[in-house]
Amino acid sequence: MSHKLIDYTPNLSFYFGTSFAKLAPPILLNIDGLYGPVKKDKNPHFYRDDWAMLALRGFLRLRDMKSIRIKSFLNIGTGSALDTLGAIEALDLSDVLMTELFSKSVEKAQLNVIRNLQKGNAIKVDTVQANALNLDGLRQLKAKRFDLIYENLPNLPGELNDLSVYKSQPVEASFTTASLDDVPKIYKQYLLGSHYLALRNLKPFLAVGGGIMCNIGGRIPYELIVRMCRDLKYEVSRLVYELKMQSEADWNLRAYSKWEESNSGIEFAFYRGQLRDSKEIVNFDQSNCDRVSGYADAAEEFDRLIAKGKLSAKEALKVFDGGKVPIAHTVNTILARPVG
Ligand SMILES: C[S@@+](CC[C@H](N)C(=O)[O-])C[C@H]1O[C@@H](n2cnc3c(N)ncnc32)[C@H](O)[C@@H]1O
Repeated sequence: MSHKLIDYTPNLSFYFGTSFAKLAPPILLNIDGLYGPVKKDKNPHFYRDDWAMLALRGFLRLRDMKSIRIKSFLNIGTGSALDTLGAIEALDLSDVLMTELFSKSVEKAQLNVIRNLQKGNAIKVDTVQANALNLDGLRQLKAKRFDLIYENLPNLPGELNDLSVYKSQPVEASFTTASLDDVPKIYKQYLLGSHYLALRNLKPFLAVGGGIMCNIGGRIPYELIVRMCRDLKYEVSRLVYELKMQSEADWNLRAYSKWEESNSGIEFAFYRGQLRDSKEIVNFDQSNCDRVSGYADAAEEFDRLIAKGKLSAKEALKVFDGGKVPIAHTVNTILARPVG
């Protein structure tokens, strides 16, 4: 296994230019065996396709919101920690705690952040191994409160999820359908269980006035996400609405199709990937999505533009045809804040 550090400066420079306030370029990451980001030079749509960049767009929206003050940050499942670096640069943080399910990721995530901070900074950075779904590793921190919690947990339970994606990581550590037993049926059926549990379990860790930012692959109606948040006594606002290429499309589409087959009446929404390169979407991107603004205010128009390429998981798997036709799905980056 190589331990080469990869330069991610171009990814963050897209948003921050060359002058970083908290980070010291070149921004070098060790992503061996971690959930790693797409590099800018390999993908012209990197800011749409990479979860860490979608998170960064959410953080930039939060920076512009006057109604939330963010000093402390809890990241659930940071992977490579590129999302944490983005949060540090975008927000005025003094206290950062990253979590990862896998022990191997914990040490690397911590090093990936520390090695890229400017010397003499006053930011406290820690990483713990934790499972957001049962709170293992987090319970002992119960006295701590955070202004912002971020989660981008997988939608697919272990039985459907091919964990070879996480290469050398232990398969048994993933969540299973059984661990979603106390999630209401409708959210379990639409594979929102991990987000439901995260929103429910992490609420006690929120400081007064704080919020949870969730990145949710929107293969389901947005209204259902809103309903889930309301059931859990959160108010919700959409920070970013985007069309992301389906990563590891082969096994993901198989998994979603299998779920459609065994859950009659449940249908997911996928899109033909070529849509992203259509004139309307590219123009839409330039006028509305460039840098900070995202699609949130123009969601209806965006839905209208992509509607013609909509496919169920079963249809998408057929169209994908072993990799011949790229497939995309929408992403909702939301902010959920406790009501009352
Ligand atoms: C889709 S990746 C996102 C990684 C990173 N946040 C980013 O934006 O690049 C999901 C991450 O959540 C972690 N994860 C999966 N299940 C988890 C759980 N139950 N608790 C905490 N982290 C988990 C995975 O190891 C993985 O790094």
